[in-house]
Amino acid sequence: MAEAQRAVAVVTGSGQGLGRAFAQRLAADGFRIVVADVQADAAAAVADELCRLHGTGAAVAAPVDVSDEDSVGALAEQVQRDAGRWDVLVNNAAVFSSLSMKPFGEIPVAEWDMVMAVNVRGAFLCCRAAVPAMRKLGRGKIVNVASAAVFQGRPNYLHYVSSKAALIGLTGALASEVGNDGITVNAVAPGSTETEVPRSTVTPDQVQQIIARQAIHRRQVSDDVVGAVSFLVSADSDFITGQTLTVDGGSVFR
Ligand SMILES: NC(=O)c1ccc[n+]([C@@H]2O[C@H](COP(=O)([O-])OP(=O)(O)OC[C@H]3O[C@@H](n4cnc5c(N)ncnc54)[C@H](O)[C@@H]3O)[C@@H](O)[C@H]2O)c1
Repeated sequence: MAEAQRAVAVVTGSGQGLGRAFAQRLAADGFRIVVADVQADAAAAVADELCRLHGTGAAVAAPVDVSDEDSVGALAEQVQRDAGRWDVLVNNAAVFSSLSMKPFGEIPVAEWDMVMAVNVRGAFLCCRAAVPAMRKLGRGKIVNVASAAVFQGRPNYLHYVSSKAALIGLTGALASEVGNDGITVNAVAPGSTETEVPRSTVTPDQVQQIIARQAIHRRQVSDDVVGAVSFLVSADSDFITGQTLTVDGGSVFR
């Protein structure tokens, strides 16, 4: 497929974890993937992996700090230079696996601000960068990666849960501003998901409680979430916008 013709999906935070799984699925769906991550080496490794699997041109790495306006501006320039089009944005980058749980009163203000800057401002900046290109195309798909933790009242990472609640608000509000441009904006809210990345935002005891609470009693893995993202960036979801799709094995019912 000529690169100019292939639809482009920018997946932020796709150097590892869920973002990498989204990138893998969207590459298999035929998108040219921009592997956008603050960890330049990880982004390059995932882009190489996708090119090996799907052929040269399947992916390109883009080092970016989504919380930084200039860095996101450079990302938008790279996308235009590289492919001349921007069809899909998956706002997946977040401060997450590096967080440690703590009572809300012990969260330093600097840590609160960092989580908000990456998880919320990052999504805002990336949407602001992508929408003009999508308007030019006359269509576009934005998927924000929120979290089912918003609906569970999970304790001990208040900044993180608050940031994900903000993304759900952003999803509906932005959807109503860009609907007439042919752009849909939706969110997925995954339950606690095992990836290849170790983290301390969930303890082994909590994992067992989470599994017991689910209607489907097994550990959620990345592959459980990728289908929802694939659907929300496909034409099959063209009349769905402003929505949040919970993917958690049946733990919260809304
Ligand atoms: N894994 C879960 O249990 C779970 C559950 C619900 C929601 N989520 C959400 O899914 C997404 C991915 O989760 P994960 O488990 O893969 O997390 P992760 O911490 O393993 O990966 C996050 C990725 O974002 C990148 N990143 C961080 N700051 C960045 C910045 N400033 N600019 C660009 N990239 C940056 C990291 O380098 C990393 O590659 C996150 O939005 C997370 O909040 C995860």
